[in-house]
Amino acid sequence: MAEEKKLFKVTIDNITIEVEPGTSILLAARKIGGDVAPPAMCYYSKLKGSGGKCRTCLVEVAAGSSADPRPMPTLVASCRTNVMDGMVVKNITSEKVIDARNGVVEMLLINHPLDCPICDQAGECSLQDLSYENGKSTTRYEFPKRVFEKHDLGPYIQLHMTRCILCYRCVYTADQLTEKREHGVLDRGDHSTISTLLNKSLDNEFIGNVIDVCPVGALTDKTFRFKNRVWFTKPVDAHCNCTKCSGKVRLWMRGDEVFRVTARKDKWGEVEEWICNDCRFHRKDVKDWTIEGPSKIDRHSVIGQGHYVGVKKTPVLIDKVIGKQPKLLMDIHDISDVNRPEIHLSQIEGPAHSDDFQKKDK
Ligand code: SF4
Ligand code: FES
Repeated sequence: MAEEKKLFKVTIDNITIEVEPGTSILLAARKIGGDVAPPAMCYYSKLKGSGGKCRTCLVEVAAGSSADPRPMPTLVASCRTNVMDGMVVKNITSEKVIDARNGVVEMLLINHPLDCPICDQAGECSLQDLSYENGKSTTRYEFPKRVFEKHDLGPYIQLHMTRCILCYRCVYTADQLTEKREHGVLDRGDHSTISTLLNKSLDNEFIGNVIDVCPVGALTDKTFRFKNRVWFTKPVDAHCNCTKCSGKVRLWMRGDEVFRVTARKDKWGEVEEWICNDCRFHRKDVKDWTIEGPSKIDRHSVIGQGHYVGVKKTPVLIDKVIGKQPKLLMDIHDISDVNRPEIHLSQIEGPAHSDDFQKKDK
């Protein structure tokens, strides 16, 4: 009989789970889900060596393990710290963590412009979400932000370095998906830039994936840029018989028009399967695809706001985190005549109006 694997017990924000030895605190927290999972701007589970750059995933370790229950002296990067048996971790229940995360966001926004209304990534930008949750309305930084010219990385990708937060995800993607490194980070500190070194075009067959891993609007798809706002498009899952990749994609459509093709992403915003440039940039006709149905959008982005069937709700963990039932927990659907979850806006012809929401049983 196979020997049973010993699991480690870890408590994160008062919720205890068991995970395999070698699991990072971040991945253990993702098993619990919801707000207990720290945000991650540089870690990417599909990219070896990623993480440890942005510090958005900092957590407090209140007890190191059952063998040595002393707290860790500083906050640690949860993507780079593995759980120990009996470890006690605080994420949203720690004031120190919230304070540090606010500081990290302030630091990331020192150079990142706050021009979301004119950025192509608006509505699906991890930094936009993070700054809503942890940002301040003002900055203490008095110097001008770094500004760069836009730069074409080959025929399909545009780099706007002004928006880059130097997470290195695109560098690892190019390293690990393509045959040779074609771009990287040049210089140090405030002078660091993503560069194609000898201005080499990035025309590898899988290089388009750098657009999907970029957490901000620094790398954008030149075949889609500014053609539409992402929340006006409707994402559907589709596939084709591609000889280079799995052919499993997400189409971003308006009517019968395919505006953009991307890889499918999971609930942590990570690519499920890498796709090739042909699928991404050249198959923009609906006839190229077999449509499977509306995509399940389960992040809290504006894209999911009321549009689609199959939206997965974030688990409500508040009672477990605070250790008691909150005095008041209001479900908007119970008290509003307009918010009716059984009505799917994607199934209504044209724009919805009040008639669509009138209770027929009244
Ligand atoms: S371009 Fe995007 S993916 Fe690449 S390092 Fe900058 S922020 Fe990260
Ligand atoms: S996600 Fe952990 S340091 Fe960036």
